[in-house]
Parts: sequence; structure tokens; C-alpha cells
Amino acid sequence: MSHLEIRQLSKSFEGKEVLTDVNFSVDDGEFVSLLGPSGSGKSTLFQNIGGISLPSSGSIYLNGAEINGNRGSISYTPQSPSLMPWRTILDNVLLGQEIAGNRDKDKALQMIVRAGLKGYENAYPHELSGGMKQRVSFIRSLLSPQELILLDEPFSALDEFTRIDMQKWLLSIWDEYKRSILFITHHIEEAIFLSDRIIILSGKPATVSKEFVIPFARPRNEDILLSEEFLQWKKRIYEEMKESPNS
Ligand SMILES: Nc1ncnc2c1ncn2[C@@H]1O[C@H](COP(=O)(O)OP(=O)(O)OP(=O)(O)O)[C@@H](O)[C@H]1O
Ligand SMILES: [Mg+2]
Repeated sequence: MSHLEIRQLSKSFEGKEVLTDVNFSVDDGEFVSLLGPSGSGKSTLFQNIGGISLPSSGSIYLNGAEINGNRGSISYTPQSPSLMPWRTILDNVLLGQEIAGNRDKDKALQMIVRAGLKGYENAYPHELSGGMKQRVSFIRSLLSPQELILLDEPFSALDEFTRIDMQKWLLSIWDEYKRSILFITHHIEEAIFLSDRIIILSGKPATVSKEFVIPFARPRNEDILLSEEFLQWKKRIYEEMKESPNS
């Protein structure tokens, strides 16, 4: 079980407010995307939720308990994840489990194959492209034991086709693993395709301007990307983001 609740969260850097009065929640098993323009404060919000930094005011609750500044209760993959250069891909993938004390090498190998990285398990990070490294850190977070996973633009370094493949892959894994996912993107289509709910962050300082419940049935496949209904969602969200510009 996991229920995340963000209440009245604000964050300033040197007196300049970046986030103001942010309120939202993520229910057990939900896939929620945070959509906002570049520089709106999405990664800052994740650093607060992941316990890497503290909000200036407000609270983050996980299952009713305040977790401000606590690392480890939520699986957090930063925007530019670092793999340990001296560890092989397999050992990097196993890192999240190692910290929790249960290595499952077979599962890790299986995930490496499913991420299209077969044959790279004994390679070192410097031998991989940027997109491949992103996939490694992504499966590392999926294999860690926490029930809520924060993913900060995990597919931003991928080309359009690889991105859609990875989105489909993520949905199939998510179906199997039943985790809650809070996902950052500034890609409107990606947010619609993946999410149960989309939270729009906008304004300077940023706050939640709107929430949308995305009604497409699951399992979803890429056919919906070309449907009239999908296009309407794209328009609706685009209009919303345009109306509350980030300046
Ligand atoms: N440690 C810091 N010190 C000072 N300012 C910071 C710090 N971290 C972030 N900021 C500022 O906060 C604002 C939001 O940054 P953030 O990285 O959260 O944006 P973002 O929405 O994740 O952008 P992107 O989509 O480009 O990743 C920016 O103006 C940035 O300069
Ligand atoms: Mg960011």
C-alpha cells in the first residue's frame, strides 16, 4: 500500500520562490504524470519528495506519516541518473535491491533483456549510449522494493520510436509490478499515453494549475495515439498549458 500526499508545499532558493502552495496526491497503484514546462520546478519537487532536499514549507506524507527529508521511503531516480562506473550493468541494476538486502539476479537479468540490453550485463556504463544508461537506471528503480517510484523524464534521451517502445514496455512492467508511479515529463503525448491522471504545473512560481483524469482503458496500445479522442486530449492539455504560461 502506498498513498502519497503533498500539502501546501513551497520551495525557495535564495529568497526566490520556485514552487508555491503545491497540493496533490498519488493513490495506491496509480500512474500520475507531472507535466510542466522546462524550468517550472518539476525536478525540485521530486528532490523534495525523494528526501534529497527539504521544502521551504509544507509537508510530504506517505501513508499518513510525514516524510520530509527522509530518503529511502520512496524510490527516486534523478533526471540525470548516475551509474557507478566501476560496476557492471548487472551490478548497477542490482544496487537498489542490495541496499534493501535481497538480490534477485535472475529477475535482474530478465529485466535487462526486456529493456533491450541483452549481452550488456557484464559491460561497464562507459560502453553504453545515454539512452541505454537511462534504461539501466530505470530498471534499477523498478527492481528496488519501494512501492512508489519517482521517475524524472526517464525517456528524454530517446528517439521517438524507442521512446514509444519504452513507454509500452513501462506499461507492461507496471501492470505486472503494481507499483505507484509519479512520472515527470514535458511531453504531452507521453503523459496522456501513460497516465491515469495528469497534474499540470505552471506559473512562476509553479503551482498545480489543473488535474486531468485520463479515461483510456487499459491495457493501452499505440493505436490510441492516432485516435480522435487522443487528439482531443492533446488539444485540451495544450490549451491549458498555453493559458497559464510559465513567465
Ligand atoms: N539548487 C538550486 N539552487 C538555486 N536554484 C535552483 C536550484 N535547483 C533548481 N533551481 C532553480 O529552480 C528552477 C526550477 O528548476 P527545476 O530543475 O526544478 O526545473 P524543471 O521543471 O525540472 O526543468 P526541466 O524540465 O528543464 O528539467 C530553475 O529556475 C532553477 O534554476
Ligand atoms: Mg527537471
